[in-house]
Amino acid sequence: MSTNTIDKPKKVTTATLRKMKAAREKIAMLTAYDYSMARLVDESGMDVILVGDSATNIMAGNLTTLPMTLDEMIYHARCVTRGVSRALVVADMPFGTYQGDATAALHNAVRLMKESGCEAVKLEGGSEVRESIEKILSAGIPVMGHLGLTPQSVNKFGGYGLRAKEDAEAEKLLRDAAMLEEIGCFSLVLEKIPAQLARRVAESVSIPVIGIGAGNGVDGQVLVVNDMLGMNKGFVPKFLRHYADLGTVINDAFTHYISDVKSVDFPSEAESY
Ligand code: KIV
Repeated sequence: MSTNTIDKPKKVTTATLRKMKAAREKIAMLTAYDYSMARLVDESGMDVILVGDSATNIMAGNLTTLPMTLDEMIYHARCVTRGVSRALVVADMPFGTYQGDATAALHNAVRLMKESGCEAVKLEGGSEVRESIEKILSAGIPVMGHLGLTPQSVNKFGGYGLRAKEDAEAEKLLRDAAMLEEIGCFSLVLEKIPAQLARRVAESVSIPVIGIGAGNGVDGQVLVVNDMLGMNKGFVPKFLRHYADLGTVINDAFTHYISDVKSVDFPSEAESY
């Protein structure tokens, strides 16, 4: 039996996601950072592809997302959009590109859209970045919010632990979610918060709420592609499910290749000119 309940157009848009929430069809979102992976993710029928600033962890080996630059994000997002024909492509605005002056935030969002071909941007934070979000929305750029564990604030939080455990932070998160809907965000990511709170948010707003480490009471899920494929073995948070063990598959392929080269098994005559 198909799990799809609405007639989806060939191209997924922000309107498609709204209809999916109304029809109670869950939204599947995954990150991608390069052309080849983006093609595979898109061909699988994924609804949304996020060019996350986690690119700087996964692709560049940085410990936090803070070093990501706008030029680097544009590069990754452009690589992804070249490989995608169906999924909605959302790109993260890097740390420092929207937290200050709203006009600068608009300028940076316009660059990201224009130079990468992405179809929406994602920003972390609530009331603190309201002005920037409103300015970006005023240019017709769809904005996805991001509340809870917002990794660009890791130094303020002092780590990547569960957020909004206490009433005051949970209440602020509920207010921020309502505000993001009210000003016109098309969707919202909730990261690493109690499942009950995430369900409450999803039930209290009409925009789709996508969770990561936020339980199954939300409207969809997002994971980091390399993590769910088992390519990042040391990273095993409770919320992560491994859908493959590509780390082992790739390692085995490499050792097999080394052995074939050393033993002159590769290339064979058939593989030579
Ligand atoms: O950068 C990222 O990959 C993200 C997801 C974890 C939501 O923001």
